[in-house]
Amino acid sequence: MKEINIAILGLGTVGSGVYQIIEDNRDQIAHKELLQLRIKKILSRSYHLDIPEEKKVANIQDILDDPEIGIVIETMGGIEPARTYVIQALHAGKTVVSANKQMIANYWPEIEEAAKKTGAGFYYEASVGGGIPILRALDDSLQANMMYSIFAIINGTTNYILTKMTSEGKDYDDVLKEAQQLGYAEADPTADVEGFDAMYKLSILASKAFHARLPIEYIYREGISHITKQDIQYASDFGYVIKLLAIAKREKDNIELRVHPTMIPQTHPLANVRDSFNAIFMNGSAVGDVMFYGRGAGALPTGSAVLSDVIYAAHTCQHRYSTFENTKNFISPILYFEDNWTCPFYIRLNLLNVPGVLAQVTKQMGDYGISILSVIQKDAKKDEATIVFLTYPAKEKDVQKAVSDFKKMSVVKEVGAVIRMEN
Ligand code: HSE
Repeated sequence: MKEINIAILGLGTVGSGVYQIIEDNRDQIAHKELLQLRIKKILSRSYHLDIPEEKKVANIQDILDDPEIGIVIETMGGIEPARTYVIQALHAGKTVVSANKQMIANYWPEIEEAAKKTGAGFYYEASVGGGIPILRALDDSLQANMMYSIFAIINGTTNYILTKMTSEGKDYDDVLKEAQQLGYAEADPTADVEGFDAMYKLSILASKAFHARLPIEYIYREGISHITKQDIQYASDFGYVIKLLAIAKREKDNIELRVHPTMIPQTHPLANVRDSFNAIFMNGSAVGDVMFYGRGAGALPTGSAVLSDVIYAAHTCQHRYSTFENTKNFISPILYFEDNWTCPFYIRLNLLNVPGVLAQVTKQMGDYGISILSVIQKDAKKDEATIVFLTYPAKEKDVQKAVSDFKKMSVVKEVGAVIRMEN
């Protein structure tokens, strides 16, 4: 029986989940893994659980200087002091298991360099998709594939909000308030609702899937705070749902990376991922379509992923590092302000209800080569009419130019919404 001494940095939601799983499942893990997991030290600002006093330490040095500690679990979140502690622990030769997507997305090369120097392991399964075992699946079960695309719901808060807006026909602000009262959304929801959390996760996930370091600067990001119940209803009338998707597509050595609200057909497997659940839908050269589904957050699901890393690291004689040279970029990103991607669009315009207005607007679209798939007039009043267009695949750049022109036209009262679609 191998004994592993562990230190936990940060006993918040995820750290507490890790502690609880080890306490509850110690015997079972020992029996099936031949591993005795022992939490020796904990460094935390506060302690919600009943922790024996001798385990509590006041500073990181206590952990770094303890030769018995082999694995440090970082569940503090945020960049500092987590990054400093992680690098110090790796320099001290301790394997680090982290759930910290923001830190990894921003400082991955530096962290891995520190790990390589001492041969320590660095593991981060919990950083993407909470309890969903997606990163090791990419490393261990899907190695045979060249991955082509990723479509992922990797933020539970926004999926919860969009699901409630869809099922209850409520406005964004009302659902956000409810979600905050129920503890599903943070008091400051920016990181979730503006797509930052999904962007960090996509950077990690796509880097793994495409074996190239894809930093957050390559990712176009747009949140859900401007999505209205009206657009959700119109999307539904067309047979679509709106989801905050993290998208990565590879075309030879070019890659497009984007996080934004996306209309997908109600028949797509991701359309049925509701509430705070996460799912990752990928396509690989050999496996074809493959989808992973589960809880993207929460103490026990995320703790489950952390423990999987701890057990994996404990059994590993020689740690593996990313297969990409992560200080360089080997792949060309398709950047939002440069080349741009192509996809179908949903465009909602509020127009003056006068003869010929539609012709003026469609001419503008035609001039930019944007072809219309479908057009429907909604909510026509005496002076104003809402017109919804679905386009054939069009270049993002062309659509943005057309939108900018619409805003200058006297017959256009408002560009209500521009939402990208995926079929
Ligand atoms: N705040 C995240 C979410 C969970 O809503 O999915 C932690 O990454």
